[in-house]
Amino acid sequence: MNTFLNKYDITHTDSLVDDIKVFLRSLKPSATIIITDINCRKFCCKKIKSAFYSGIPVFTFRSGESNKVMKTVYDIWRFMAENEVDRSSLVVNIGGGLVTDIGGFAASVFKRGIPFINIPTTLLAQIDASAGGKTGVNFGGYKNQIGTFTLPEKVFISDIFFDTLPEDEFLSGFGEMIKHALIYDKSDYDEVISFIKNDFSEKDFKKLNSLIKKSVKIKEYFVKNDFKDKGIRNTLNFGHTFGHAFESYFLQKSAPLKHGVSVAYGIICELFISVKYRKFDKNLFIKITKEIVSIFGKISIPEKDFKKILEYMKQDKKNKNGMIYCTLLDTIGTAVNKNIIREEDVFESLYKLNTLTK
Ligand SMILES: NC(=O)c1ccc[n+]([C@@H]2O[C@H](COP(=O)([O-])OP(=O)(O)OC[C@H]3O[C@@H](n4cnc5c(N)ncnc54)[C@H](O)[C@@H]3O)[C@@H](O)[C@H]2O)c1
Repeated sequence: MNTFLNKYDITHTDSLVDDIKVFLRSLKPSATIIITDINCRKFCCKKIKSAFYSGIPVFTFRSGESNKVMKTVYDIWRFMAENEVDRSSLVVNIGGGLVTDIGGFAASVFKRGIPFINIPTTLLAQIDASAGGKTGVNFGGYKNQIGTFTLPEKVFISDIFFDTLPEDEFLSGFGEMIKHALIYDKSDYDEVISFIKNDFSEKDFKKLNSLIKKSVKIKEYFVKNDFKDKGIRNTLNFGHTFGHAFESYFLQKSAPLKHGVSVAYGIICELFISVKYRKFDKNLFIKITKEIVSIFGKISIPEKDFKKILEYMKQDKKNKNGMIYCTLLDTIGTAVNKNIIREEDVFESLYKLNTLTK
């Protein structure tokens, strides 16, 4: 295992402010800046502002995936330069996956790398985006085309941000949580589905925290064994070959579909292909599809746009020699990476997605 992965450091905490203070005291950065988006500045930063000195520079950008572009990164670099950020400084990313992806990327290349920490404020960022060291921005309308593999110095996970998190953002997080469970273990999958269906409305954060811890561990397992995503880490991309294409397609139509929700629909398509080419059980596929639809609702992609989805899929970073690569499942917990899928598989599964979610 790569030794610098010793830095893989995630703290689940009930005393976030104190823990940040202790961390800052031990690191003693030459300068500290915060990167956040408008909503997180309003709802999240104030909850932990006592952890930082008053007057700390805060860079705030507009929320929304359409801002995950190089223009935002240039603005951040300018802000860093104005605030004399150097390699002994610290960048603190406070927000969802948008903030941790952009802030992490901007920090990872400024002056060849400024240390940064992530304080994720969405469910999705806590279980996925903030940990694992993938940073980046979209480019040319395609997801995450520019980025680095750079671990944060630290990730702090706390539920104090959840009281303002909109319902649909929880749902998006559940999309990735379901994916983690499906690639890892059937009992985890059953537990997550049962929680979403039966307990979530109660906002039982204690129970949710224990699911978050499990989900973070699943991600950690794959990241630690294959940091640069050459092999087993591909498993985490289950649902994403279609999912990223859906996200880009709906973004371009100005009707954004949240990342985790896109992944949930991607799971349906990739399970359909798993039934076709691997030995995934057809009845289990139908059961999971019904569960996903009952949680995330219906989706419809006009047949005339199937080719557009295919074009987006062709831009996936995992592809080689113009072939579309996809992770499939033999069963829950047994993934098979690097399957080549054909155009007709894409069209058939999109057709199936439309009919099954009608
Ligand atoms: N790097 C990775 O490994 C990885 C993994 C998965 C997803 N991602 C990326 O993460 C991004 C999606 O992240 P996300 O789902 O966290 O979305 P997001 O960061 O866009 O946040 C969603 C919305 O919720 C708001 N918000 C965040 N926290 C809040 C809070 N506590 N209270 C009120 N509002 C709050 C944000 O301002 C935003 O409007 C995508 O760009 C995706 O590509 C990255």
